[in-house]
Amino acid sequence: CGVYFYFSQLEGQIDDCECSVNTVDYFNNLKIYPRLNSLLLKDFFRFYRVNLERGCPFWPDFKRCTTEHCSVETCSEGQVPAGLSTEAKNGKESSAHKYLKEAQNEEDCDENHGGLGAVDRTLSEETKEEFEKWQKYDESQDNFCETEGESLTDVKYVDLHRNPERFTGYKGVSSHRVWKSIYQENCFKPDHEHGPFTTSKNLGELCLEKRAFFRAISGLHTSITVHLCATHYTPSKTGFGSGNWGLNVPEFLKRFSTDQTDGEGPDRLKNLYFVYLLELRALAKAALYIEAQSFYTGDDVEDAEVKSAVTELLSIIKSFPNHFKESVLFPGKDEETAKLKEEFRQHFINITRIMDCVGCDKCRLWGKLQTEGLGTALKILFSGKLDSDLKMPQLKKNSFHLTRKEIVALFNAFGRLSTSVYQLENFRKLIKS
Ligand SMILES: *[C@@H]1O[C@H](CO)[C@@H](O)[C@H](O)[C@H]1NC(C)=O
Repeated sequence: CGVYFYFSQLEGQIDDCECSVNTVDYFNNLKIYPRLNSLLLKDFFRFYRVNLERGCPFWPDFKRCTTEHCSVETCSEGQVPAGLSTEAKNGKESSAHKYLKEAQNEEDCDENHGGLGAVDRTLSEETKEEFEKWQKYDESQDNFCETEGESLTDVKYVDLHRNPERFTGYKGVSSHRVWKSIYQENCFKPDHEHGPFTTSKNLGELCLEKRAFFRAISGLHTSITVHLCATHYTPSKTGFGSGNWGLNVPEFLKRFSTDQTDGEGPDRLKNLYFVYLLELRALAKAALYIEAQSFYTGDDVEDAEVKSAVTELLSIIKSFPNHFKESVLFPGKDEETAKLKEEFRQHFINITRIMDCVGCDKCRLWGKLQTEGLGTALKILFSGKLDSDLKMPQLKKNSFHLTRKEIVALFNAFGRLSTSVYQLENFRKLIKS
């Protein structure tokens, strides 16, 4: 009864949005999720360019090095590029040599339960050649991914399908610490609040923009947690075989049921819908810009397929009747509003940096991807450059720009949220029966 109650609490209006959970469930599970899922299998979306080696800027790094066999130094050596590297081209070290060294180090540093948390950096030779072409193409476009300060040497392509986001068995201190510092030091607090952090209980004391910030972050956290609960690893009882991946209901209830979360579970789940609507709106708002991309991978047939699939998906997204209204946030043109917006932006940038502090490789990869995707959504919503309904020729002259990396991150991040909403349905069925 208690459990049923909390799902029924989830029904109805999503806070600070004009739309209900049921509308989103229906729209996502039937229309968005299946299409998005097949789109994300395409090469354009499946290879993500990321720097996993930036290191944690805020506290000493314990990255994948909790075993005695592995000092931090050895591990950072293990981050040798798998290919595509400017260094390899300069012939400092053959890529075969690097591969071997990497494999070696990966083994030594394996704190992640049989390597479940390690990122699979394997790319075929063919793929590597393709990337060289992509990279040349990208560089000929005026992109500004260097503003992230990621040196080209450390920015590598990762095949997202070889590295699914799922429970890794990783129980390191770092993930806990990351979320704790996000909530304690990087979310806004009510002015008179001296407590450790904002929760759904004192949220009402914040202005709309600060509430939105908290909801988006909490929604992202919820989404990641739902994935880990939905793709949970249970080792086989006999010790043979590789065990099973599946829904873990007790784990889910621990994070989201009313009684085990001091009443916060349903709000956490609602925040997932909040951030979903935020990214949905960003996709709709940038649709014209995104549709005009070439989705270049060098394979004309596939590129054209991707373009038409993207266009179809975006037209469905545009048809959603209750889009999030970003114009209610930061409405004024005064100095106060500008200051708040800048504060919002700084807080968010800081959170993307904290993702570099996540210990397990895979969790860091997906954490970075999802924050970059959300950051891209915020850029679309609040840059002010897409506010008037520009048509194509003007839009091209406009200084608004998204890099391939940002587009890939946005679609994949939205894919994760879409999957979470879909997985909630599975939990709902299991828990109600
Ligand atoms: C960024 O995050 C770190 C770690 O939580 C925190 O110590 C620092 O105060 C934050 N900086 C800003 C500018 O918010």
